Amino acid sequence: MNDIARQQLSIQVESMDLLNGQIKMEAHASAAYLAMASWCEQNGFFTSAKFFFKQTEEEREHMMKIFNFLIDTGGSPISPEISGINHEFSSIKDVFESALQHEVKVTESIKNIVKKARASMDITTERFLDWFILEQVEEENTIRDILDMIELTGMEGVGKQMIDDSIEKWIEEA
Ligand SMILES: [Fe+2]
Ligand SMILES: [Fe+2]
Repeated sequence: MNDIARQQLSIQVESMDLLNGQIKMEAHASAAYLAMASWCEQNGFFTSAKFFFKQTEEEREHMMKIFNFLIDTGGSPISPEISGINHEFSSIKDVFESALQHEVKVTESIKNIVKKARASMDITTERFLDWFILEQVEEENTIRDILDMIELTGMEGVGKQMIDDSIEKWIEEA
């Protein structure tokens, strides 16, 4: 993008670069959740797999929301390259713990963009990210609730099936 085009953005250039980073993070989350869905399918957690198939789609939607925002504001969204997707998990608990780690990182990243947008008086970007901040509260809360349930149920014997069955109620909420 040349200098004049950059000056005509309705958001700050720094925000555009940070939002391109966020596009990549959402795409990475989408790919990571697809790998988790694969693990769940292979290990007999079919309801959990459904949960992660839905999360995959949602993360893709988040990515497209930011992508389209950059188009609307005159920026240059970049289609991200994704690598390094982990497919190895030691247990269903490990899967959901990894998902929570992802979400916490995403939340931190979005808050960082909001802080920088606020510092540079980029109100457009700050307002746009309001939705994402609240979405992260929901997503983190869902996964924390699931981890609490796994802790209570325990992973021995019949617990495995009970854990998977209980995921059903979070599929609608998520
Ligand atoms: Fe997301
Ligand atoms: Fe998410």
